[in-house]
Amino acid sequence: MSEAGRSLDLSLHSLRETSLRKSGRKSGRKSGGPDRGAVALRWAVRLLACVVWVSSGIFGLYILAFYVRNAVDGTPGAWNRALPHLYDASRPAGNIGIGLHFVTGALLLVMGPLQLMGGVRRAWPGFHRWVGRVYVGASMLAGLGGLIFIAVQGTIGGPVMSLGFGLYGALMVVAAAQTIRHAMARRFETHRAWAIRLFALTIGSWLYRMDYGLWVALANEVGHAHDFRGPFDRIMVFFFYVPNLLLAEIIVRGGRLRGKAAQAFGVATLGAASALLLIGTYYFTLRHWGPPIAALI
Ligand code: HEM
Repeated sequence: MSEAGRSLDLSLHSLRETSLRKSGRKSGRKSGGPDRGAVALRWAVRLLACVVWVSSGIFGLYILAFYVRNAVDGTPGAWNRALPHLYDASRPAGNIGIGLHFVTGALLLVMGPLQLMGGVRRAWPGFHRWVGRVYVGASMLAGLGGLIFIAVQGTIGGPVMSLGFGLYGALMVVAAAQTIRHAMARRFETHRAWAIRLFALTIGSWLYRMDYGLWVALANEVGHAHDFRGPFDRIMVFFFYVPNLLLAEIIVRGGRLRGKAAQAFGVATLGAASALLLIGTYYFTLRHWGPPIAALI
């Protein structure tokens, strides 16, 4: 595998590979023999990867169909129909910052899962390397664009939301810088670790919407306020990236699924995550993402 390819050999893939290797060793089965637990785990990982890509891809399409399209049409004021105060004609720096973060954010959502596909990496290593470079650059711009917006306009949820999102943006810039810095210094183990952290951060923005979709569908918006200052909102400004980073850290430090019971737990957890994400995706596509995309077609 190429060096850049290795750099973005990300979480789900690594988890699957390590768990499959371990499970084969633990069960002591003869090589080539069936291991139902490992096969089930592999399919559970594939299902989750598919759901993540389809769902984040729809979110990326929505960003292009709504935010980017309105900017191109000269009607950026329409952004405020999604969230008040996103566009403010008197603050061009904030508008440029958030606009930049829309374009690069959509790119990140489409490119991230591409980097996970072993087949793509092996067949076109050069393509994979270039996508990796663009991915790191887009992460920096998405983080910086969001930070400029917060500095100029603040956030709808006030200081707590600004703190949560400000930290998120700063972490994304740091993770992107570290990913490229260690690659250039040829410290590939450290480079890979930072690439995993970066991926965990970039899908946070999509997870944020998923979490809200699920909460609305399953808990009827308890704790959510329209100004995003309710108790649920205050937890959410950190909850969409801190758990991902913890999971990334477990993977970086060699977390393994050992034995049959752990495999079964892994399959159940991944299956439940896929089901919940499908519910969230259904809700968001129906209510928010679908109409602008349909209008474009
Ligand atoms: C994959 C990366 C990202 C994507 C796809 C993304 C997408 C979006 C979208 C679509 C919105 C508009 C609101 C909505 O329709 O839900 C938004 C708002 C926002 N994003 Fe991001 N974003 C990303 C990364 C970031 C980062 C790293 C930061 C941190 C600095 C950030 C900070 C913000 C802020 C502050 C708002 C406006 C919230 C408000 O109006 O108060 N985003 N983002």
